[in-house]
Order: sequence, then structure tokens, then C-alpha cells
Amino acid sequence: MAFSLQNLLYLSICLLLLISVANAQNCSDCFVHSRASYYPNSDAQGTDNGACGFGAFGATVNGGDVSTASELYRDGVGCGACYQVGKMHQQHTDFILSEHAFSKMAQTTDAAASLRSLGVVDIEYQRISCSYPGKNITFKIDESSNYPSYLAFAIYYQQGEKDITAVQLCETQNFTCKLLQRDHGAVWTSTSPPSGPLSIRMLFSDGDYADDTWVVPVNNIPQDWKSEAIYDSGVQVS
Ligand SMILES: *[C@@H]1O[C@H](CO)[C@@H](O)[C@H](O)[C@H]1NC(C)=O
Ligand SMILES: *[C@@H]1O[C@H](CO)[C@@H](O)[C@H](O)[C@H]1NC(C)=O
Ligand SMILES: *[C@@H]1O[C@H](CO)[C@@H](O)[C@H](O)[C@H]1NC(C)=O
Repeated sequence: MAFSLQNLLYLSICLLLLISVANAQNCSDCFVHSRASYYPNSDAQGTDNGACGFGAFGATVNGGDVSTASELYRDGVGCGACYQVGKMHQQHTDFILSEHAFSKMAQTTDAAASLRSLGVVDIEYQRISCSYPGKNITFKIDESSNYPSYLAFAIYYQQGEKDITAVQLCETQNFTCKLLQRDHGAVWTSTSPPSGPLSIRMLFSDGDYADDTWVVPVNNIPQDWKSEAIYDSGVQVS
């Protein structure tokens, strides 16, 4: 193997599609050992067809350092989680990185070329806090939406290390809320959403129910929401 353990160059990536790490709960500081591969594609960046439903955003977030990993996907809860990945020696493939992210694990252009030629490398990874400086949590209305009868949206730019485990859609006249279904990945849906401005509340969880927190956006989704529009929540978490 051309790369030693000392040669670890860590990169932060954002998981758009991924697998669960059974032993990671009590292990804030330890790395899980696995293997990484990359998906060859023309622009060498991320994918816009991820199971998380991030759409084209998936190919641009984190400069295309996007990955997929089946066990970390956790039926969509893992979408948007951030991981730090370094290469080393051993085990099974959890991460499939964009070619761009994969090559970034090497320190020189030549090293990147030989790393790509290996196809699969051994890595270690741990979950880390996501950071999107200057961004609030943002709702992107999914193109599958059909105003006013069907609302689907994805949640972008969630900072920190928590998962969004539930989402409520509230009308803003009487504040009657309904719990939404996670359709797939980071996409939440509502058939016959209430009329009027809407408030989307998110439950943030670190796995300990006692610490679960509902975050209420400052901004509402406007009454005349539009498919593919992007709405700033006015809030961010850390
Ligand atoms: C995590 O570690 C703490 C302190 O070492 C321990 O008390 C606790 O039982 C552990 N939890 C799990 C789920 O292993
Ligand atoms: C709010 O409550 C009033 C009185 O019950 C009702 O007439 C109105 O339709 C409700 N508004 C919404 C948006 O549900
Ligand atoms: C984020 O929300 C704050 C508070 O609502 C607002 O002042 C700020 O302009 C928002 N930032 C962006 C980048 O939209």
C-alpha cells in the first residue's frame, strides 16, 4: 500500500446517503474503521440523485465532497450528517465518495492518481459537527410538490451533530400542527397542507430523549409557496 497510517489527511465530508454505526453512540472521539470507494462520474463532483433527496444541492454542498454510505443512512435520519474521513488500512466499504472527495485524501496530484487507481482504500471515520457559516436552516420545496394540495420539502444547512427525528407542519392562525412523514432521506411531505403561512418545526435529537428539542423557525413558509422555491427559516442550530 502506497500510503502509510502517518500519512492520514483528513477531510470533512457531508453524508448525503448513508449506514448506521452500531458502536458509535458512546464513542465521540473514536474512529470507525472501514473502506472508501468513489463513484466515477463526469464532473468528478457529488451526485444529484442521492437517496437523501437533496437534489442538485447534493452536488454542490461542501464543494462536492459528498459521500454515500449505506449503513449510515439510517432510513434517512443520517442524511446531512457530517463525517471526518481519513485513509488507513482495513475492512468493508461504508463510504462511496465523490471522485473529488476521494482524491482529496491524497496530498499530491500523483498520490491522488494512484489512490484513484486503487479504487477502494481503507479509511477511518467519525461523525463531526456540521458547519455552514453564514447560512440558516433552509427549506427547499421539492419539485414533486403540487400547490396547494401536496407539499414536499428538504431541509438544508442543518449545523451541529444532532439528527432531525421529527417535523411538524403548523398553520399560523391557531397553531394547529401535524406531524409529517419522512418520505425519503431529508424530504418531508404533507398531503393537503393547511392554507395560510406555514411554520415548519423540527425536533433535534442526539439519541437521548431527555435532550430532544423542538426548534421553531423565525420565518414562515409563505401562503403562496412555490415548487422549487427556497425559504430561509431564520434560525440555525449548533
Ligand atoms: C457510555 O460511557 C459512559 C461513561 O464511560 C457509561 O457510563 C455509559 O454506560 C456508556 N453508555 C453506553 C451506551 O455504552
Ligand atoms: C382557526 O380556528 C377558527 C375557530 O375555530 C376557525 O374558524 C379557523 O378556520 C381556524 N383556522 C385555521 C387556519 O385552521
Ligand atoms: C439568518 O437568520 C437571521 C435571523 O432571522 C437573519 O438576520 C439573517 O439574515 C439570516 N441569514 C441569512 C444568510 O439569510
